[in-house]
Amino acid sequence: ARATLGQRNLVLVGLMGVGKSSIGRPLAQELGIPFVDTDVEIERVSRMTITELFAAYGELEFRALETRVLKRLLEGAPRVVSTGGGAFINASTRQHIKSGSLSVWLKADLDVLWNRVNKHDERPLLKTENPKQTLENLMNARYPIYEEADLTVLSRNVGKDIMVKEILAAIV
Ligand code: S3P
Repeated sequence: ARATLGQRNLVLVGLMGVGKSSIGRPLAQELGIPFVDTDVEIERVSRMTITELFAAYGELEFRALETRVLKRLLEGAPRVVSTGGGAFINASTRQHIKSGSLSVWLKADLDVLWNRVNKHDERPLLKTENPKQTLENLMNARYPIYEEADLTVLSRNVGKDIMVKEILAAIV
């Protein structure tokens, strides 16, 4: 499947660890538009880390903040926006993304995700007794929803330049 980006934002959605930020940055460079990471922006405006926000206010408050920050990031000149894994799952946020942006789901299987989140560990949702099982539960719950993105690109361990090329090939 192919889709036209036009003068729209390109919004990367998908589970934590799939490479939204590491692929999004070089992708934006190729497209000649700015890149922004929603989680980084949330941390900047709140002056707290995601982990601190979850601990201090809980997931619900975090979601409300995420929605506000993301809606603002989608206004104005087109960019590549990487979203936190839960952003597209929120119905109103999803509608907002879909109404004015091209959404790209970076999809991966459990082992690809697990290898990536294992290394750098700043994910409050995975602070459970069996984080791999938690990740699998999140996959099962969320994959049918990520499916609603305009495009799906399979994220594999092939290097981000190849992933960038695949996305470009699907949108240009
Ligand atoms: C979350 C994913 C995280 C971050 C928060 C919640 C989720 O972002 O927003 O920990 O609900 O999947 P990444 O997908 O960038 O890790």
